[in-house]
Amino acid sequence: GRRGGGEEEYLFKVVIIGDSAVGKSNLLSRYARNEFNMHSKATIGVEFQTQSMEIDGKEVKAQIWDTAGQERFRAVTSAYYRGAVGALVVYDISRRTTFDSITRWLDELNTHCDTTVARMLVGNKCDLENIRAVSVEEGKILAEAEGLFFMETSALDSTNVKKAFEIIIQEIY
Ligand code: GTP
Ligand code: MG
Repeated sequence: GRRGGGEEEYLFKVVIIGDSAVGKSNLLSRYARNEFNMHSKATIGVEFQTQSMEIDGKEVKAQIWDTAGQERFRAVTSAYYRGAVGALVVYDISRRTTFDSITRWLDELNTHCDTTVARMLVGNKCDLENIRAVSVEEGKILAEAEGLFFMETSALDSTNVKKAFEIIIQEIY
């Protein structure tokens, strides 16, 4: 299976990647602490949160890693990906450039992780329907072509945030 590590039986590492300001840190804070910050600062280096959930009566812990989308703030890339068994690859549905970057993020993921990593394409900020720049259909098509799960989320209003993380963790498990 996709179980990684071995040190602790049910601890899974999940990484969040995508351009700066797509909402990676807010997706994590919404999921782990039910918090949202309208004025969050760009991440510098790496942060992570450990979140427990129960699957088939067993406690499963996901260690979710969040890093900077901006190149100059990023930590050592190989260390960030090491041991990851799941990945959320995020764009912002209101900014097309962030969607165009997805192939680059997938390339980086594929360089550092093997193909068994469970991957989900996440179109965040779906609350911004009035300034949408990427259609749901385009997200679906890309996800299908690349063999990824797909979900649109909103860290602001909580749409699908829990679901996105839980689908990826279930898949790993
Ligand atoms: P880096 O750390 O620079 O890579 O950025 P990030 O991807 O972690 O983005 P972050 O979570 O800091 O969010 C960037 C901005 O988008 C902040 O002003 C957030 O409040 C806002 N934001 C995040 N998620 C959403 C969302 O779902 N909807 C809306 N409307 N705004 C969001
Ligand atoms: Mg961040």
